[in-house]
Amino acid sequence: MTGGRRLDGPVRRFLEFAVQACQQNVRRVHILDRADNGALLLELFTRDGHGTLVTADVYEGLRKATIEDVGGILELIKPLEDEGVLVRRSRELLEMEIDHFVIIERDGTIIGCAALYPCTQQGYAELACVAIHPEYRNSGRGDTLLQYLENRAIRSDIRKLVVLTTRTAHWFRERGFQPSDRSDLPNGRKLLYNYQRNSKVFIKLLDTADDNNSGDAR
Ligand SMILES: CC(C)(COP(=O)(O)OP(=O)(O)OC[C@H]1O[C@@H](n2cnc3c(N)ncnc32)[C@H](O)[C@@H]1OP(=O)(O)O)[C@@H](O)C(=O)NCCC(=O)NCCS
Repeated sequence: MTGGRRLDGPVRRFLEFAVQACQQNVRRVHILDRADNGALLLELFTRDGHGTLVTADVYEGLRKATIEDVGGILELIKPLEDEGVLVRRSRELLEMEIDHFVIIERDGTIIGCAALYPCTQQGYAELACVAIHPEYRNSGRGDTLLQYLENRAIRSDIRKLVVLTTRTAHWFRERGFQPSDRSDLPNGRKLLYNYQRNSKVFIKLLDTADDNNSGDAR
């Protein structure tokens, strides 16, 4: 059934066969329209393939990063580092900080990442290295990463999210971050501010369940 309509005919049969195959440990079934010129080549040689894929595996999902993801993250962020959009990170640094990262993986390729550096004693966390692969932008994935990390911060009793950005101010403003001043940065973070990058500072106060009840949101 799609959108309340019944699927009949060959499409229904193909899907039923595909589901049965997956239930018997076939990893993937690809359904292609034989009338579609070049469909097989597109399926075989493009990352997103063609036609319909039926699989019991997770095809795309968000998860915490592990040390095995370092190479994929570096590949994703390298062009953005070269453009100066993101701060350069060495492989060693990324390996040390990997626990702070979450990623979106699509069919084995990392297409999104973001990091949260909590400073629980001072009640804030810094959001950094938010990146979505150019081919997968504008589909809500950036929002998904942000939402996930905001929830993670709230669960750690963090009420303030800080982000420093040179080029993406609007995106953060549209998501509730308020323009702030360097002097608003928590003390420890102020000392690490990179004057050469001259990033703009944005701060978002996070709502907790209690805030929602009292309607006290900034
Ligand atoms: C910023 C970024 C993570 C957003 O990811 P995304 O998955 O495309 O975001 P979403 O799909 O959730 O949101 C897309 C919306 O944001 C807007 N948007 C994207 N980049 C933007 C930017 N730099 N400034 C303002 N708006 C932006 C899109 O136009 C779109 O608007 P619409 O929903 O009205 O069409 C992605 O564009 C990216 O990786 N940019 C390069 C890295 C970067 O700048 N990171 C931040 C460093 S601190």
